[in-house]
Amino acid sequence: MSIPTPIAKSVTLPQADAPAGLPAGLPDAATLARLANEFFSSVPGSATPAAASMGSGGGESISAALPFTAPATSVASNPAPPGSPLAGPGGTGTGVPGLSLPQGYVPGANLAPSSPLHVLSIGNRAPALVPHAIAHDGVPDLVQTVAPAMEPRIGGAALGAEPVEIERPSASGAATSGYYFLNEDVDAPYTHRDAPKPGYAATPESFGLPGDDFLRSLASEPRSTPTSGAYYFADDERKQASYAKSAHPPFDVNAIRRDFPILQERVNGRQLVWFDNAATTQKPQAVIDRLAYFYAHENSNIHRAAHAIAGRATDAYEGARETVRRFLNASSTEEIIFVRGTTEGINLVAKSWGVKNVGEGDEIIVSHLEHHANIVPWQQLAAEKGAKLRVIPVDDSGQVRLDEYQRMLNGRTKIVSLTQVSNALGTIVPVQEIVAMAHRAGARALVDGAQSVSHMRVDVQSIDADFFVFSGHKIFGPTGIGAVYGKREVLEDMPPWEGGGNMIQDVTFERTVFQGPPSRFEAGTGNIADAVGLGAALDYVTRIGIENIGRYEHDLLAYATHLLRPVPGVRLIGTADDKASVLSFVLKGYAPEEVGRALNEEGIAVRSGHHCAQPILRRFGVEATVRPSLAFYNTCDEVDRMISVVRRLAVRR
Ligand code: ALA
Repeated sequence: MSIPTPIAKSVTLPQADAPAGLPAGLPDAATLARLANEFFSSVPGSATPAAASMGSGGGESISAALPFTAPATSVASNPAPPGSPLAGPGGTGTGVPGLSLPQGYVPGANLAPSSPLHVLSIGNRAPALVPHAIAHDGVPDLVQTVAPAMEPRIGGAALGAEPVEIERPSASGAATSGYYFLNEDVDAPYTHRDAPKPGYAATPESFGLPGDDFLRSLASEPRSTPTSGAYYFADDERKQASYAKSAHPPFDVNAIRRDFPILQERVNGRQLVWFDNAATTQKPQAVIDRLAYFYAHENSNIHRAAHAIAGRATDAYEGARETVRRFLNASSTEEIIFVRGTTEGINLVAKSWGVKNVGEGDEIIVSHLEHHANIVPWQQLAAEKGAKLRVIPVDDSGQVRLDEYQRMLNGRTKIVSLTQVSNALGTIVPVQEIVAMAHRAGARALVDGAQSVSHMRVDVQSIDADFFVFSGHKIFGPTGIGAVYGKREVLEDMPPWEGGGNMIQDVTFERTVFQGPPSRFEAGTGNIADAVGLGAALDYVTRIGIENIGRYEHDLLAYATHLLRPVPGVRLIGTADDKASVLSFVLKGYAPEEVGRALNEEGIAVRSGHHCAQPILRRFGVEATVRPSLAFYNTCDEVDRMISVVRRLAVRR
């Protein structure tokens, strides 16, 4: 990728005398060694280059992906003195107290062939982690060799606190806690269509829960004392028998919960239940630690300076971009633009691609489900250009009407912009089909992934959208960071939408030459630390396994729906067959805010309101709903606590 490198201007690398066997254009080994050592020795207290890039907190670094192997002499000539705190107990010194490299590991072994930035940053990468093995999902596992206090934990308690390779939970492990997948093939790709249909026609037994009789009794008799501690069905014989028969691995939700410190908070004397995940998700310790590590060891502006810390920060930031690329299966990091979040991402597309490509009389299609962030920027564009905003209706379950959509498409349609999961109803929208239909009509397509990425596998190449946008804070990462994926050929044809530093190649008072994507769209100093934190969050999710997460959440949602639907006075808003996470409802006799307050009194956080999606709520005749929204750290026990409050309100009405 083209990384803007002011460093390039300050270092001249010889190009003509690369030794035989090295690709043309590379500096010779002696130059590499000299440059590396100059910079290594400029790091206070540093003796040798760091072991490996932490990158985004766990992913392979962009440098590591490059082909040139530097001569070991270029990095091994300045080891930490024996016995120095910088020298590891048995391996190579790393410049990090207490951290050693495995024997045989060549620090800085993969140098960028042509980017001086990478040459300079070899010695300055975050040192705590060592690439270990290709593990689950083809993602390289990183194993913490030593854990000084400030080092980020990549796995966290759910994945084992000890420095061992992280495994998927095995069928024999953790059999006493959590919630278990039943009747599912854990290795098969999960799609929501595979899972028992809610509606929720799934029998309780289909997800390992008590039978209908039990649930009916629950629905008709308030449970004044929610079961605490263990699941009330844990001793159910059928369930135990299912465990014994099941070849599927357990999902140890209690172990996962230990990774999220905030879940131990008490609110109004009760342990917090976080059911406001559609608004924002909580952060695992791995993300919190990664942010602290960045500020303690790597903080600098990026792309801009010939000093060691700038190299670390740049590596970490660009490593996070690579993590996002891999998470979405984009084909290049040039297709990944960091933004503040989904709202800014859609604005970027509307104000860059839209301003260039939408004209008078053109049409923009959204759906009735959209969040305001996917309505307002298009409305503004339409008003500015004299274009028309058209809205795909939904059926009474809250699913998009594809027949109506087909009728809307025509030669004037310029872009179709749809959410993949509705934040207000939870509907999962068939975006792949919608994108294909848009393309057949000659239109571009944008998918708003704010509510989908944390619940299901997203493969932007399969979806084939021209743009895909998401927010980090909805997927266990920091606020203020998100990403736009854009197809390379589309981005290359888009003008910048903001101007300033970082996005230019050359500026005079007469004209400016811009960088290519993604830098062209990242004017000014970006949210560097939080991009790195986002990378750590995606690594965390990848290690748990997004299919595992989707499967667990699906069953939890089915469970919650099964209990909530029959509560007298409850009306579910959004009953599509395919849903993720969200359980919107109103309760007769209560304003949603009253229900929200009653839940809060019991330590349960939900959003009550219009969810920044007023049009879809009005479609169902309401101005607001109560919206519990689930994540993979939630439990049946927490659902029981919520149902108990709603039932109590229902009988008091
Ligand atoms: N979009 C966020 C929500 O749905 C804020 O609550």
